[in-house]
Amino acid sequence: MKIGILTSGGDTPGMNAVIRGFAIRARALGHDVVGIKYGWKGLMEGLFTEIPYEYDELISRGGTILYSGRTNPFKRADGVDMIRQTFKAHGLDAVVAIGGDDTLGVANRLTQEGLPMVGVPKTIDNDLDATDYTFGFNTAYSIAAEAMENMKTTARSHGRILVVEIMGRHAGWLTLYSGIAAGAHAILIPEYPLDMSTVAEMLKKRFKNPETSWAIVAVSEGYELESQEVNGVETDEFGHVRLEKLKIGEKVAEFLEKEVGVTSRAVVLSYLQRSGSPSPYDRMLSTRLGVAAADLVHEEKFAMMPALRGTKIVPVPLDEAVNNLKLVDEEHWKLAKKIMGLE
Ligand code: F6P
Repeated sequence: MKIGILTSGGDTPGMNAVIRGFAIRARALGHDVVGIKYGWKGLMEGLFTEIPYEYDELISRGGTILYSGRTNPFKRADGVDMIRQTFKAHGLDAVVAIGGDDTLGVANRLTQEGLPMVGVPKTIDNDLDATDYTFGFNTAYSIAAEAMENMKTTARSHGRILVVEIMGRHAGWLTLYSGIAAGAHAILIPEYPLDMSTVAEMLKKRFKNPETSWAIVAVSEGYELESQEVNGVETDEFGHVRLEKLKIGEKVAEFLEKEVGVTSRAVVLSYLQRSGSPSPYDRMLSTRLGVAAADLVHEEKFAMMPALRGTKIVPVPLDEAVNNLKLVDEEHWKLAKKIMGLE
């Protein structure tokens, strides 16, 4: 078979390790492998590139050698026809799409249109219900935790509150995991908004003691304050609000500065969280997924993706992957509340 592979959506540490695992396995099974550039745009326009045979660097290299994009073929009247045309013109037999809910949703719809697709779930947000963890999450929350850990020295030296805005869209996984791992004093996630006067009181208590007159607050980019206006904010091709435009970190810092009465500054981690080399955990998970994706194509099990369930990689229908977002559950939130001393 001639199998194309593409990466779409936000770049995620481990994408290249998936490409590597997939290419090694698919070639060993006797298939031709071709890279498709810029996600769905590349599949529509027939933008191909070679996947190198020199694999060494790919295991640890961040980003994606195939480039990414947020093009939605279903937003264009002729999007599916263009893809059909690319399949025909280039003799493609199947495509592996590495992406999050949007990308997997497109892959699922294309399969329903008769185009053979296999997905590989990715996102630093860890919000795909069909898999226990997505690759990239471990790296991203480790980076955020390390950043907050380092910021403690400045917060302590100046007696300030540092509010750290963390990615993750409407799921608080990144904020909760990194916040707990870094020992943040307040953790604000979209799923379980806290009464902000309680947060202010909690911090005021810390500032009463000169030994603890500083604090780190972890806040999700998707956290909403009661007074916040979300309507009218720009959206991307998949209809997602551009959350960075809402500047929640700054708003929380302003609120705390007023209520607690100490200098509070916001730090937006933004792309630092998904840039750079994947953690060894993510390299391992990515490799398992890449190899499993090649096996699925080889067995012609389309409209499927490999997923992590417990300690096993299992095939899961794409349909399942795209229907439910995995938000932070009660158990994790209770843990965060206990750690914050709120329960
Ligand atoms: O889904 C991954 C993610 O990094 C989110 O955490 C974030 O909200 C979004 O992508 C940012 O999108 P973009 O790459 O378009 O800036």
